[in-house]
Amino acid sequence: MATLLIRGGTVVDSETQYRADVLCVDGLIAAIGEDLDAPAGAQVVDAGDRLVMPGGIDPHTHMQLPFMGTVASDDFYSGTAAGLAGGTTSIIDFVIPNPQQPLMEAYKIWRGWAEKAAADYAFHVAVTWWDDSVYQDMGELATEHGVASFKHFMAYKNAIMCDDEVLVNSFSRCLELGAIPTVHAENGELVYRLQKQLVAQGVTGPEGHPRSRPPAVEGEAANRAIRIAEVLGSPIYVVHVSAKQALQAIERARGEGQRVFGEVLAGHLLIDDSVYSDPDFTRAAAHVMSPPFRPKAHQEALWQGLQAGHLHTTATDHCCFCALQKAAGKDDFTLIPNGCAGIEDRMSLLWHYGVGTGRLTPSEFVRVTSTNAAQIFGLYPRKGAMRVGADADLVLWDPAASRTISAETHHQNIDYNVFEGRTVTGINSHTISQGKVVWIDGELRAERGVGRYLPRKLGGDYWEAQRLRKGPGPSNCLVS
Ligand code: URP
Ligand code: ZN
Ligand code: ZN
Repeated sequence: MATLLIRGGTVVDSETQYRADVLCVDGLIAAIGEDLDAPAGAQVVDAGDRLVMPGGIDPHTHMQLPFMGTVASDDFYSGTAAGLAGGTTSIIDFVIPNPQQPLMEAYKIWRGWAEKAAADYAFHVAVTWWDDSVYQDMGELATEHGVASFKHFMAYKNAIMCDDEVLVNSFSRCLELGAIPTVHAENGELVYRLQKQLVAQGVTGPEGHPRSRPPAVEGEAANRAIRIAEVLGSPIYVVHVSAKQALQAIERARGEGQRVFGEVLAGHLLIDDSVYSDPDFTRAAAHVMSPPFRPKAHQEALWQGLQAGHLHTTATDHCCFCALQKAAGKDDFTLIPNGCAGIEDRMSLLWHYGVGTGRLTPSEFVRVTSTNAAQIFGLYPRKGAMRVGADADLVLWDPAASRTISAETHHQNIDYNVFEGRTVTGINSHTISQGKVVWIDGELRAERGVGRYLPRKLGGDYWEAQRLRKGPGPSNCLVS
């Protein structure tokens, strides 16, 4: 395997920054220090004024997801390759069984699809129904396949939505296993009712989408899931927090000592709901995702949540549907496949709008784009760490270089970019995956099938703390 010496850069990790060379051997970081010698035959990259940081981890993607009557257009190869172009070197995607489908069966199908990945990947597995076999399969997935997180959709009624009974059963099982439950927090019953009402009133265009999923719908579900986790004594992770109301539920619970983690998407930090009033159906529909983009005031709240440490990870919910696919909802917004792209642009957007505005320090950037996801989801210190023995998944970051985002030039397999035309300063000149340079100054060298499945650790540090603090079972209830 390759030996690579990155010479003369500034290493940025989740704590600090310092001048050092980084030696990568056989896919791992072998040494970090000053004036390292290049072993015979090593490739040497001069880092110059650039920063050397852990590659991004996107903890929320949906490659080739079968959803709403179609299949997401970025597959595990094209999607992970686009991630490498933008400095993301690992993803955590989702296995989503149909109701009644055995979890193990779905897991094997997704593992097969992912064999073409160009970058490393792990899976959250969704619990979409419940019986004893689901309980058993969760055990097998966790203990034999390193699945350390399970997903629960509180929306998408008549498809993959969980009711409270499933949430309670599954969160309890997660607690037994040392796996973390995650939730898509929207009250699916309310969404269903509002959708029906709007369509009956003749609101059939994309402007109906945000109206059917107002912030309170998200706030209610986030609060409910968090309170269920509180009673059971389980930690919980809320995906794609988009509304102040959901953030407040997280802040309140954390203020009371509950272990709650929150994720925010680059899109929700930067795009507001005016996109749905665009008279052009194709452009408006391209922004249809759930939860929807919100009025501007929510964006500032989300940035503050990230700065304050109530939101821990940044993700994309990368789920691509092209214009032809979105056209399925031309006469009824409830049929527009939900999802937007973003894996290629998250890192630069977070740097430009986060570090570039002083909201985040470079080390905070590393935390929210990589280290925190690795720690929460059992990948640390293999991923998300600048330390000897970690995987050599790195970016060489040029804080002074710029690029303009466009569907014309992106590598994502989608004909629209929701960040179109934004010029971002702070980009990866190189991406290194498994110790190999896979992106260099605009040239993508992604290889189909070299991505590896990442089994994850169950019951990390925070789990022990969780058990010490509350312990499982009904005695956790704060009955006064
Ligand atoms: O609209 C979205 N987010 N599509 C993907 C599925 C999900 O809810 O995460
Ligand atoms: Zn979701
Ligand atoms: Zn999603």
